[in-house]
Amino acid sequence: MKEYGYLVKCAIDMMKFSYAPYSHFKVGAALLAKNGKVYGGCNIENVAYTPSNCAERTAFFRAIAEGVREFEAIAVVGGKDGVVTEYCAPCGLCRQTMTEFCDPDEFKIIMAASETDYKVYTLAELLPLAFHAEF
Ligand code: THU
Repeated sequence: MKEYGYLVKCAIDMMKFSYAPYSHFKVGAALLAKNGKVYGGCNIENVAYTPSNCAERTAFFRAIAEGVREFEAIAVVGGKDGVVTEYCAPCGLCRQTMTEFCDPDEFKIIMAASETDYKVYTLAELLPLAFHAEF
């Protein structure tokens, strides 16, 4: 299996930029584009709650706003007050956003507890029967 420790490290580094004064749950993401570039993301909360954005979608939107649309993998880490104790699963909205831009059988989602302790899933495994553009 491919080694994704370096991508997990980028996600862990991104947690320090998390703006989470309401949930105190800090999330970091690192999105690897097929061109080799890595786009970092963090969660950004809002006092009105609904405008909040997850770390994964922050990473995707940064890449897409730079004209990059082909992706290989995303690493995700999260924990209360930035302390990672277990694997952090992407929410349903983020899985749907990934479906817009990624091949569900190829794109990898890496849920990590540390640089050496992580699980790798395909997008198809995490969002089966997805609503996609072919419909
Ligand atoms: N969050 C993410 O950033 N990504 C996920 O995949 C799960 C949830 C954020 C949203 C909110 O700021 C905080 O975690 C608690 O739900």
